[in-house]
Amino acid sequence: MSAPSTVLITGGAGFIGSHACAELLDHGYELIVVDDYSNSAPQVFARVQRVAGRFVGAVYELDIRDRQALSAVFDRHSVDAVVHFAGLKSADASTRRPVEYYDTNVGGTTALLRTMHAHGVHQLVFSSSCAVYGEAGLAPLDETAPTRPTSPYATSKWTCERILADVCRHRPEYSVVCLRYFNPVGAHPSGLLGEDPRGTPDNLMPYLAQVAAGRRERLRVFGDDYPTPDGTAVRDYTHVMDTVEAHRVALDRLADAPGLHVYNLGAGRGSSVLDVVRAFSRACGRPLPYEIAPRRPGDVPALVADASAVTRDWGWHPSRDLDDMCQDAWRFQRLNPYGYEGSARRPNTDRRANGGLPNR
Ligand code: NAD
Ligand code: WQD
Repeated sequence: MSAPSTVLITGGAGFIGSHACAELLDHGYELIVVDDYSNSAPQVFARVQRVAGRFVGAVYELDIRDRQALSAVFDRHSVDAVVHFAGLKSADASTRRPVEYYDTNVGGTTALLRTMHAHGVHQLVFSSSCAVYGEAGLAPLDETAPTRPTSPYATSKWTCERILADVCRHRPEYSVVCLRYFNPVGAHPSGLLGEDPRGTPDNLMPYLAQVAAGRRERLRVFGDDYPTPDGTAVRDYTHVMDTVEAHRVALDRLADAPGLHVYNLGAGRGSSVLDVVRAFSRACGRPLPYEIAPRRPGDVPALVADASAVTRDWGWHPSRDLDDMCQDAWRFQRLNPYGYEGSARRPNTDRRANGGLPNR
């Protein structure tokens, strides 16, 4: 197998996907993106182009479960590898809409795998999640830690991993990397790309950014009675630029790595909610208001990665700290107070009525 040069990115308009597009373009990859914009907007591609100085080769608006539309993309382009970001990602929402989560995350992945198979494409990087570990202690988790998914979202990611393990077990031509992200946050240092959630942010960092921008009054800290040093929950926040660099390294290595590889992608450092509040306050130059609220159902006290395997095998390790994450998130928020939609007109995009063919 040769190293991939044309890469299809599913969900490339999303938070991590758009940063990955910039990173991969910057390193010479040719990119084809598919996204249904269910949680993103096509304006992001003009930003990606400004950051990378190059265009994404083609962008298709389609749902990855639509195998006919997806197949037309593979017919049209000679795809060497796929990075699969597309999916639904809220553990909380998945408890209210479990079937939708399985349909999109598991059904989307099997539709993609069938299409890849039909087109002889066997290299895949898959977005998995630390959510597969579920309830855990304060100690860093390596990839052998037990998986105990506690939400339909987490089970959907775990199920995809199982499917990919079976594919690799029975089809030696496949090379698959499952990256279990911990908490990717932050933004591109240019301030052009960042996290642009729809509606009220579920996640800590984008919520804090909106408090800092004056769009929300104060943060509600969900629980101060956890068995952690300051009583608030501990997570392993990882800069999104470090996260996407790992995808580039994975693509560089895939060709020589048959079989299934599962890696944690985390910084290996735990930060409490109050640590993040303090770091964001430093970034924006004023103390951010917060109040203690009850625990959020389904939250676990701590999730911290032992990410030494990916360092050992690939030499990847994160180089940015929590202050960098907050400074970059704040820069994006300051420059784009209402996100991408607030700053640009929706460009001309093809719809499925058009066969899902490209808008450039
Ligand atoms: P995101 O919602 O910003 O990006 C996902 C993209 O996929 C969006 O652009 C959305 O429009 C698209 N999409 C969703 N369903 C689709 C479908 N059926 N067909 C085509 N496109 C579709 O999310 P993100 O934060 O960039 O996450 C990317 C991936 O990483 C997801 O699979 C998520 O589960 C996983 N992940 C994210 C985190 C995190 O904290 N952000 C942590 C662990 C794992
Ligand atoms: C972080 C901490 C909250 C918001 C989520 C998904 C998980 C994975 C990573 C995709 C928690 C606290 C939050 C707020 C708060 N994603 N918090 N006030 O829950 O660790 O993980 O992203 O795979 O599946 O569930 O991230 O950013 O929501 O929360 O106090 O308004 O901040 O309780 O302790 P989480 P988060």
